[in-house]
Amino acid sequence: MQTIFTETHKDAHSNARLGILSLPHGDVQTPAFMPVGTNGTVKGIYHDKIEEIGYNLILGNTYHLYLRPGLEVLEKFGGLHNFSHWNHNLLTDSGGFQVFSLSGLRKISEKGVAFQSHIDGSRHIFTPEKVVDIQKVIGSDIAMCLDVCTPPNIEYRAAKEAMHITHNWAERALNHRKELGDAFKGNLFGIVQGNFYKDLRKESAEVLSAMDFPGIAIGGLSVGETTDQFNEFLAYTADIVTKEKPRYVMGIGSPDYILEAVENGIDMFDCVLATRMARNGAVFTDDGIVTLKKAMHKFDQGPIESECHCTACTEYSRAYMHHMVKTNEMLGGMLATEHNLTYFYRLMEKIRLAIAEDRFSSFKKDYLARFYKR
Ligand code: GUN
Ligand code: ZN
Repeated sequence: MQTIFTETHKDAHSNARLGILSLPHGDVQTPAFMPVGTNGTVKGIYHDKIEEIGYNLILGNTYHLYLRPGLEVLEKFGGLHNFSHWNHNLLTDSGGFQVFSLSGLRKISEKGVAFQSHIDGSRHIFTPEKVVDIQKVIGSDIAMCLDVCTPPNIEYRAAKEAMHITHNWAERALNHRKELGDAFKGNLFGIVQGNFYKDLRKESAEVLSAMDFPGIAIGGLSVGETTDQFNEFLAYTADIVTKEKPRYVMGIGSPDYILEAVENGIDMFDCVLATRMARNGAVFTDDGIVTLKKAMHKFDQGPIESECHCTACTEYSRAYMHHMVKTNEMLGGMLATEHNLTYFYRLMEKIRLAIAEDRFSSFKKDYLARFYKR
């Protein structure tokens, strides 16, 4: 198997590392934050703007894209890149997580998962092979294996069974990916599960690491557990997962979780937090989250952040942002989205610089002290 990841520098005092992820639509500097574009659009922002900020890897969701617009449309357009006019890299989640969080009725068996659409109740089946095929039609640069993600506090037996199914599906997905050969350019990543049981996490990390995947994800985290549990299981699992490949923690994206992940040698993460909060008028600054709705901003002539070069910060005041959020104007959500995605991009740049200069741990400490000061 061809390697797609090169570690270019390791921090002298932590497991944080810099790397380059080589994908069909170009190289990605890691650690990298990936904006989420569930339906083939990152909500509230043009693809051109995302590119201008600096991102060259965004997410899509197999579950949503398969239901709408559907494979026939995606096939007709030759994939999501063409359809959505995004010429950089795309990672698609497999649908494993979305079937469990969105679809009301579902039934898992060794064969796959049968579920009903959250949109119209129609019945569908995802198998590990079919989910690879769907991601081929989408044209994903990174495709994810179908997995079984479980909530915290489930019984050991159920967690173990979900893990075994996930391993079985990973093997089938990988075999199917190999059969497709060069007809599909995407890189298939496996996903570690094991819930919040250390022996299961260990087994899953070892089994997935030994398989022939070009990259590995840690799943089943940030699913409702406490922060202490997250930190403990992230560190425990990251220590076992192979360091030869790119390592991706799925579904995390608050600054504290990102910093924790980076410190444990994680290279990639994604989260709806930055974009979802923006649509609710909450914007990120180095001094914490600012709620634009609050009356304190009504007459504020200053920008959200003076050092930020996004459109909201260079052209508009906090007072105008407050007004747009209060009146539910679309532009408010769009500008806040651009700000938050700019904020997260700059945060990742600062993180990468701190690693390059072997001062990641002190950066993390100083950043968190300021961000959570209030
Ligand atoms: N997104 C967040 N967590 C998970 C997970 O455990 N599995 C998948 N497939 N997607 C996720
Ligand atoms: Zn800004």
